[in-house]
Amino acid sequence: MKKQVVANLKMNMTSSEIKNYIISLAPKYKDDKVELTLALPYVSLELGRFMLDGTTFALGAQNLSDEERGAQTGEISGAMLKDIGAQKVIVGHIERRVKFKENGKTINKKIKIALKNRLQVVLCVGESLTDKNSLKTISTIASQVDEALKGLYENELENIIIAYEPVWAIGSGKNATVKEIETGIKAIRKAVENDFSKKAAEEIGVIYGGSVNAKNISQISSCRGLDGVLVGEACLDSGVLMHIMTAFAGGAKK
Ligand code: 13P
Repeated sequence: MKKQVVANLKMNMTSSEIKNYIISLAPKYKDDKVELTLALPYVSLELGRFMLDGTTFALGAQNLSDEERGAQTGEISGAMLKDIGAQKVIVGHIERRVKFKENGKTINKKIKIALKNRLQVVLCVGESLTDKNSLKTISTIASQVDEALKGLYENELENIIIAYEPVWAIGSGKNATVKEIETGIKAIRKAVENDFSKKAAEEIGVIYGGSVNAKNISQISSCRGLDGVLVGEACLDSGVLMHIMTAFAGGAKK
């Protein structure tokens, strides 16, 4: 798969700020080796659709409802995201698992709805510090992958990218080491192999997120089997995001 950089803007910018952000980003983008996805807040998706038209950037959302339609005040459906032009959607981010009590079942429902609406899914998995300290990294990743992908057909995996995001590395300034990232990637691929096949495990896109920045991107991009990165804080500066894109384009190995 094409290398991926997914910029998760979270709840950091208003639409006016995003407009200026995209204006400053677009002319800096010269390379097409890496696909950049801007995962925008719901209220900025329409703006994103217009501003990204004619660029190679992809438009992403940060969440979707686990119901298809109906009396769900304040929720946004997969069909609505597709209709507004979103191509990808993040599912299972730790900030939603913790704060909004999203569990494996909810995440599995969201993935099925996203796929039904022809949205690509960026599924986030990763262990907490407690899991890490009690040597449960691999088993935690395996159970999160199992729960999330339950009941899917193997051919649907081509529309899923799995992001290894160790909880302790998110927003902490402490990125995982190359060895830790490679362990996470292997655990994800092994879980996919157990649930589907060796071929599926080799082919599925796996990216890393957690305090990725301009300083550590060269090292992170050297991880074996890594198809991209999911960037939070550092993507808020368009110059830093471009640096990350360029460094990743030059570094990742299979
Ligand atoms: P940071 O890059 O700010 O650690 O956030 C990572 C993340 O949660 C991306 O989804």
